[in-house]
Order: sequence, then C-alpha cells, then structure tokens
Amino acid sequence: MSSATPGTPHLRGARVRCEELGFRHPGGDSSLSLASVDLEPGSRTAVIGPSGSGKTTLLHLIAGILSPDRGTVTLDDEVISGLPEAARRRRRLAGIGLVFQEFELLEHLSVRENISLPFAIDPALGSEGRSGRVEELAGRLGLGPLLRRHPRRLSHGERQRVAIARALVVGPRLLLADEPTGNLDPRTGAVVLDQLFAEAERAGTTVLVVTHDHSLLARFEQVIDLESPEPGGGS
Ligand SMILES: Nc1ncnc2c1ncn2[C@@H]1O[C@H](COP(=O)(O)OP(=O)(O)O)[C@@H](O)[C@H]1O
Ligand SMILES: [Mg+2]
Repeated sequence: MSSATPGTPHLRGARVRCEELGFRHPGGDSSLSLASVDLEPGSRTAVIGPSGSGKTTLLHLIAGILSPDRGTVTLDDEVISGLPEAARRRRRLAGIGLVFQEFELLEHLSVRENISLPFAIDPALGSEGRSGRVEELAGRLGLGPLLRRHPRRLSHGERQRVAIARALVVGPRLLLADEPTGNLDPRTGAVVLDQLFAEAERAGTTVLVVTHDHSLLARFEQVIDLESPEPGGGS
C-alpha cells in the first residue's frame, strides 16, 4: 500500500529542465531541436508554434513517452530521459498528468471510470480517498451530473474537462496539456483554462500548456515559441 494519498496537495510542483533536446520520429522527415527549457516549480508555461513545429513531441519527451535522440530531460533531480521505458512509465503514472490533444477518452467507460483510470492502471497509487477525490474534482469542473454518462454523449467542452480531471486526479506535480482549449469558442476556452489553473494552483502543480490561442498568453509566466522544423532534419 502506498503511503501517499492520491490527490493530497503537495504544495510544490516539479522542476523540469530540458537541455539541448533533439528528436526525429522514426520514419519522420524532420527533426526537432530545442534550446533549453526550464520550468520552475508551480510555474505556468505556454508552448506555441506552427503546426508541425514539435509542440506535441516536446510534451511527449517531457512526459517520457518518447526518449530524445540527444539531450536530457531532468525531473526534479533525476534525469528521466535515459531511464528504461518501464521506469519512465512509473514516474509518469505517479507524478505527471497528461491531457492529450485528442483526449484519448475510453468510449466504453463512463465519465467516472475515465476519470478513475489512473487508479485502475496503477494499483500502487492506492485507493484511499480516491472515490471522494473523483467526485470532488468532477464537481468543481462541472462534471458532477455527468459521472454516469459515456463520452459519446458529451459535448466537446465536457470531453475536454473529463480529460483534464483524469490528468489531475492523482494530484500530479506536473501537468502537461496539449491544446486543452482547442476547438472551443474563446469564451468556453477561457473558462476551461481558468478551471485547469485553479486545480493546479490548489496543489502547486507546475503547468505546461500547448495553445494556439494567443489571447490566453498573458495568463502564463513564460511562453516557449517553437519554430518551423528544419526540413530533412539537417543530418
Ligand atoms: N508518429 C510520427 N511519425 C513520424 N513523424 C511524426 C510523428 N508524429 C509527429 N511527426 C512529425 O514530427 C513533427 C512534429 O510533430 P508534432 O510534435 O505533432 O507537431 P505539433 O504538435 O507542433 O503540430 C512534424 O513534422 C510531424 O509530421
Ligand atoms: Mg500537436
């Protein structure tokens, strides 16, 4: 049994350092090169850049879903980019919340089951307090009455909030969100971002958000602007 109760506010977000990352997707025709990226504990950073500039790839490198060809990703004091895949996955499940660009909700599961998924995937996260945590979080995100519904019967904004709730349910020290307000009208987008920030602030979570919406950039302390990829990858 894990001694940490999921969702307990830790009041200190993760520190992330990316140094001279380089990555080319197998079979891809361009490579991503990044100067160093630093995320202070509890800070809010936006990632912008044209389509194909590597925003999603950067998030997946930080999350340890991908491993860089060059350079390092350091989470707090640990270089995670060189760890075996299983170890990166364990760190991701325990400490990193991810909102995928396409949400990746499981259509055959209810909203409640989708939000609870991290606990089902990793029993080591424990079960103490999780039921209350799911309900509390769903309530604050306006999903309370929808817990028994299936994703196909939700609006786009509701699906987005379910994805955000699932990313936050374990009380991650780092939240990575890939265009969490994409395809929402500006007003709904601002509300969803407000909710995401409010939840992150409760626990001191470090936040990195990919966005196309430049009207939201004033809400972030740091903006990382990725440029178009180098054709052919330069090598
Ligand atoms: N699975 C993949 N296989 C091959 N190339 C990929 C794959 N995913 C992304 N790419 C390429 O990597 C580059 C960066 O993609 P991505 O990180 O998705 O950009 P963004 O999120 O900024 O639109 C693009 O040139 C894209 O075509
Ligand atoms: Mg993308």
